[in-house]
Amino acid sequence: MIQDIDQILIARGAISDRVRELGEAITKNLEDVGEHEIALVAVMTGSLIFVADLMRHLPMKIQIQLMTASSYIGKSTKSNNDPMLGKLPEVKGMHVLLVDDILDSGKTLTRIRTELEQLQPRSIQSCVLLRKKLDSAMHVPCEYVGFDIEDEFVVGYGLDYDGYYRNLPDIGIISP
Ligand code: IMP
Ligand code: MG
Repeated sequence: MIQDIDQILIARGAISDRVRELGEAITKNLEDVGEHEIALVAVMTGSLIFVADLMRHLPMKIQIQLMTASSYIGKSTKSNNDPMLGKLPEVKGMHVLLVDDILDSGKTLTRIRTELEQLQPRSIQSCVLLRKKLDSAMHVPCEYVGFDIEDEFVVGYGLDYDGYYRNLPDIGIISP
């Protein structure tokens, strides 16, 4: 697997340090939420590893809900115009922390946030591990960002190409 990777962009140690910092920042901001319930909504499958690590840095009472979104058709590195969403979570009256792997065109997160707003949550904040330095991505409201990266196709730590490389512990650049 590792021989397919052109370059390691973010090594596992740096990822783990940053995930801890994100957890601390989120915890601080949600400290005053009181008895209201918090729902962490994780977008599958890309956020699989990120969310598993992040949630262990969130010591408060929090409900974990998963939803699916897919924006690629087959072997492509260009996301589809209209992401397909699975069943929406139940977030009415809750503080929502929406967690995804990466902001690229921003269509997925924008679409999900719009859909969740219809469900009358108390608040919504978004958290992504990676954000590409593209106008489209930079303009999407996102309260927590792990790393801003160049516009390259990356895999590992949950991110895939054609379903592969999610299990790579580091984030690497691949030219399919
Ligand atoms: P967007 O809707 O274009 O922002 O795309 C978001 C989704 O596409 C993310 O949730 C990822 O699953 C996937 N994606 C975007 N860029 C990459 C990448 O560089 N590597 C792997 N998956 C990506
Ligand atoms: Mg995704």
